[in-house]
Amino acid sequence: MSTIQPHGGTLVNRLAQGQEREDLLNLANSLRKLPVNAWTLSDIDCIAVGAFSPLTGFLREADYRSVLDRMRLADGTVWSIPVTFSVEEKIFGDLIIGEKVALVGASDGIVYAILDVEDKYRVDQKEEAMKVFKTSDPEHPGVAKLFDRPASYVGGEITVLNRPKRDKFQEFYFDPAQTRALFAEKGWRTIVGFQTRNPVHRAHEYIQKSAMEIVDGLFLNPLVGETKSDDISADVRMRSYLVLLENYYPKDRVHLGVFPAAMRYAGPREAIFHAMVRKNYGCTHFIVGRDHAGVGDYYGTYEAQEIFRNFTAEELGITPLFFEHSFFCTKCGNMASSKTCPHDKSDHMHLSGTKVRALLRDGQCPPPEFTRPEVAKILIEGMAENAVTSAAE
Ligand code: ADX
Repeated sequence: MSTIQPHGGTLVNRLAQGQEREDLLNLANSLRKLPVNAWTLSDIDCIAVGAFSPLTGFLREADYRSVLDRMRLADGTVWSIPVTFSVEEKIFGDLIIGEKVALVGASDGIVYAILDVEDKYRVDQKEEAMKVFKTSDPEHPGVAKLFDRPASYVGGEITVLNRPKRDKFQEFYFDPAQTRALFAEKGWRTIVGFQTRNPVHRAHEYIQKSAMEIVDGLFLNPLVGETKSDDISADVRMRSYLVLLENYYPKDRVHLGVFPAAMRYAGPREAIFHAMVRKNYGCTHFIVGRDHAGVGDYYGTYEAQEIFRNFTAEELGITPLFFEHSFFCTKCGNMASSKTCPHDKSDHMHLSGTKVRALLRDGQCPPPEFTRPEVAKILIEGMAENAVTSAAE
C-alpha cells in the first residue's frame, strides 16, 4: 500500500552503517570535538531518521533567514522552526568552513555524529525570538532557552554514528520508516496524528475520537523530549496514556509511539512544524485544537489554526483537522464545543490547569467529566512520587 509522501519527497536517512560507520568513528578521533546537550541530541536523532525531513543537518544561513522571514527553506519548502546548532564564540572563531567536526555527548563523551561545517553565521537572537515566538520576553520558556545559547551558529549536513540511549519506554520508540510500515501493515490509509505534552483529559479524548470517526487510525504521539519543569513528566504521562487506551480505545485503531523532540512552545509556528513532522511519520491528518503548543497568554486561542492559511494544501501535504475549544456541557450531558452546544458558559465545566494540579496534589480526582478516574489515579500517584523525589533533593 502506498503511504503519504514524506515532507520534501524523500524520507531522510543520515545514519551511517557498517564500514562507513567504522571509518567515520576512526576519523572522529582526529577531529575537533564539540559538546552537544540533550536538546541538540534529540534534534540530531530526529534529523538522522527523517522525522525532520527534508532537513539533512543544521540550517545554513540562507535557510535560517528564509525560515525566519517566510516560514520556508531557501528552496521554498514549508518549514517554520529553525533547527540550528550554536557553538561558543571561542570555538566559532576557530572553525574552518569545509572541516568536519565530531559532535560528542556533553555528559557521556560518546561521538554521536559528524558535522560538515558548511556555513557559520552570527544571528540576532532577539529578532529570532520575535519571529519564531512572537515575543522576546525572557519569561517565555522557548525564548529563555534561545537566549541561553550562544548567538553563533554552524550549519551543515550531519552523519550519525550513534543514537541516544533510551532509558525508558523503549518499546514505544518508532522511527518514521517503522511507523510508515506499521500503518501500511494495519491497512490504515488515513491516519490522524495527535501531539501532546499533557495527560489526555476528556477534551483531548473528545477531539481524538471525533477525528477517529473519519479516519482509519489514530497515532497518539506524545512528545517526550525536553519540556519545561512544571509540565507533567513523560514517565507519568506514559502510564496515563496506557491506562486510558486500555480502558477506552479500540486496540486496533490506535498506535502509541513517542515523539523524542524537545518542546519549543512556539505556538502557531510549532503547529506547522508538528504537522510536517507527523507527515514524515506517515500521518495523513493532524489535530490542531485550542492554543496548540502555546504557553501562558502569548498566542491567541486559534492562532495555531489560522497560520495554516499561509500555505496551500499541496504545500502542506497533510490535512490539518481544526477543533474548537471543547468542554463537558452539563445541559447537553456530553462533550461539546461552541460548534455543537447552544447552552450558556455557566453550563460548561471549566477547570484551570492550576485548579486541576491543586486537586491532584491533594489526592483528589477531578470530576470524571474532566478526567477519566483511571487517569486521575495515575496522576495523583505521579504527584506523590514527585513530591517524595523533590523532598529528597
Ligand atoms: S501541546 O502543547 O502539546 O499542544 P496539549 O497536550 O495540551 O499541548 O494539547 C494537545 C492538543 O490538544 C493540541 O492540538 C491542543 O490544541 C489540543 N487541545 C488541548 N486542550 C483542548 C481543548 N480543551 N479543546 C480543544 N483542543 C484542545
